[in-house]
Amino acid sequence: MEIKYFESYEKMSEQAAEIVANEIKAKPTKNFVLGLPTGSTPLGMYANLIEKNKSGLLDFSKVTTFNLDEYYPIKHDNSQSYYKFMFDNLFGSININHENINIPDGEAVDAGSECESYEEKIKKSGGIDLMVIGIGPNGHIGFNEPDNFLLPDTHIAVLTEETKEANKRFFDSVEQVPDKALTMGMGSILKAKKILMLVSGKSKTEIFKKFLQGEISTSNPSSFLHLHNDVTVLSDVGI
Ligand code: PGA
Repeated sequence: MEIKYFESYEKMSEQAAEIVANEIKAKPTKNFVLGLPTGSTPLGMYANLIEKNKSGLLDFSKVTTFNLDEYYPIKHDNSQSYYKFMFDNLFGSININHENINIPDGEAVDAGSECESYEEKIKKSGGIDLMVIGIGPNGHIGFNEPDNFLLPDTHIAVLTEETKEANKRFFDSVEQVPDKALTMGMGSILKAKKILMLVSGKSKTEIFKKFLQGEISTSNPSSFLHLHNDVTVLSDVGI
């Protein structure tokens, strides 16, 4: 595992975009499969990727993406959907073929079969080349929350009251926070060939310290990254 510390969020974000760009450029003729997160942490990286694309330094026309998670149920055009987040912050501003964009469908009638077909689509794509993730203050990755057990494949996660409370700031009221989410499982994430984790902000100090101790536990889903042999962590959190 490679861990790099940056003095500022901006520098960390530039480096994250540089890593993503270099991986995409290293596979110019074939379809590159990129896993993507939402949240505040990747915003700087997305801004840098848009910049590279606009200046002709990076081509997304042969990139396929798979997003980590989505609320359920939620309409695509809901201001809080991860679908809208991704189009507002990345997809709407780069030359990606929209047919190559995959986000768990918050509008699916049958959430269970949506999860199965999402996992199948990842497999059919040839697998994720580079999976970019953030980390929650409680160690969650996507909606894989600390629990007695974790699930390997894309599945329906029931939001804890704690998570609903934490996320209600984005909605008009806590009642409007969806009860569930569709999320890649820890197995879907760990099957990626490479993983890039971004850790930003003071609220991540404690969990990052715990992560660095290296003990693997379902009480800290991020700790399972220690089982993967190609993980890069970029952090602006001083320990
Ligand atoms: P954040 O979210 O980037 O908004 O901190 C990360 C996460 O909860 O996984």
